[in-house]
Amino acid sequence: MPAPATTADSVLNDFLRRVESRTATVGVVGMGYVGLPLALLFSERGFPVVGFDVDRKKVEALSKGTSYIHHIGVDRVAQAFLQKKARATDDFSNLAECDAIIICVPTPLGVHREPDLKYIRATAEVIARHIRRGQLVVLESTTYPGTTREELLPRFEASGMKCGSDYFVAFSPEREDPGNPSFNTKNIPKIVGGLDAPSRDAAAALYGAVIDRVVPVSTAEVAESGKLLENIFRSVNIALVNELKIVFDRMGIDVWEVIEAAKTKPFGFMPFYPGPGLGGHCIPLDPFYLSWKAAEYGVWARFIELAGEINTSMPRYVVTKTAEALNEAGKSVSGSSVLVLGLSYKPNIDDDRESPSFEILELLQESGAKIAYCDPHIAAARRGRKHDLQLTSVPCRSDAFATYDAIIVSTAHDAFKDASLYRDAKIVIDTRNIVAPGALASGRLYKA
Ligand SMILES: NC(=O)c1ccc[n+]([C@@H]2O[C@H](COP(=O)([O-])OP(=O)(O)OC[C@H]3O[C@@H](n4cnc5c(N)ncnc54)[C@H](O)[C@@H]3O)[C@@H](O)[C@H]2O)c1
Repeated sequence: MPAPATTADSVLNDFLRRVESRTATVGVVGMGYVGLPLALLFSERGFPVVGFDVDRKKVEALSKGTSYIHHIGVDRVAQAFLQKKARATDDFSNLAECDAIIICVPTPLGVHREPDLKYIRATAEVIARHIRRGQLVVLESTTYPGTTREELLPRFEASGMKCGSDYFVAFSPEREDPGNPSFNTKNIPKIVGGLDAPSRDAAAALYGAVIDRVVPVSTAEVAESGKLLENIFRSVNIALVNELKIVFDRMGIDVWEVIEAAKTKPFGFMPFYPGPGLGGHCIPLDPFYLSWKAAEYGVWARFIELAGEINTSMPRYVVTKTAEALNEAGKSVSGSSVLVLGLSYKPNIDDDRESPSFEILELLQESGAKIAYCDPHIAAARRGRKHDLQLTSVPCRSDAFATYDAIIVSTAHDAFKDASLYRDAKIVIDTRNIVAPGALASGRLYKA
């Protein structure tokens, strides 16, 4: 005869039944680049969804069925939010009705490159006020190993209930690649680690209902570390090619041609490409979450620090190359007009977070250049945490480009690949290898 189910088993089984029948209400906290597509996915797969955000403008936009993220189609948002399959709110008392709560709030760095967990802590505190038996809470925000156990659990334990039997807590890293046509929230495998086995099982079941492949791991800490390894891997490899770019340039060798040659090796090599510096919410920031935490254990993550040093020096390198190019033409940076192509940090999207283009523009401005930018995806430069350029985009046309003393290609937007744009340009500094040799009728093309 099977042993009678314990209360803990029945809490988990009840949660699993709700997931299976798609009656579990899914709350997503933080409706940004990560949270919004996730909320849409759960809604499209039949779950009732509540999207929470402290930003009233986002809540209002979603409630009207409009999208504020370029690559997320307005049709999908309208389908979910206007047909009342999902709703958006800034009233966090609605957390109580959610069976699963997924946290997708920002994890930036402070001014000294230390992890800034204030958004996670604020969210954990508000959830703690509403937590109830049977709920699953999953953290998706990228962070150092131990955050879920050290920051979420103690706040929830204050309720007097027990994790793993009364409620469940897990970590599952987000792997969104905005603008990637081949991979989306549904077909990117999802790592899931719980604070205990029932929490892992609850989270794996929830994601398994909407995502093609779930990868359960033994602990939340493994899941937290897995995401960091992925991002550190990119940061270190990009730093390596950025350093080799400088080395080969001195030797008169084109690093881009070297990479093309090396990547014909069918095994044991993966190409990474140099650029004007790192951008986005992840690669420039996340590795430092681990190096900060490692120091607590008396170990130094030297690769992370070195990669950070090389990558953050790239905008200054590009500006130095621009100064040298102007110098060859008998001009100084001071007084020259310089156009930067691309404000977003990667091609064909409107996400400008941590984009190196800002630093390039600011360094040029500090040296006395008259600065301008062109980005077909960003009509006006938004005021950021560190930047306020107060500029609007120059038209993406050859006659406009011809009026500048120098042009720096910073983002490889498809719109910038048209060789005829550069016909009458005077000087082009290409950090992305997208300007065809011979594109300039009489001007000079440099790589940086
Ligand atoms: N964007 C990506 O491509 C990406 C990829 C992988 C992982 N991540 C990680 O996912 C997390 C979220 O990133 P994002 O790009 O979606 O950020 P985002 O800035 O686009 O969205 C975060 C949202 O959270 C909201 N918010 C802030 N504090 C809140 C609070 N206390 N309660 C409710 N909402 C709050 C903000 O208003 C914003 O709408 C980060 O940890 C990031 O590192 C992002």
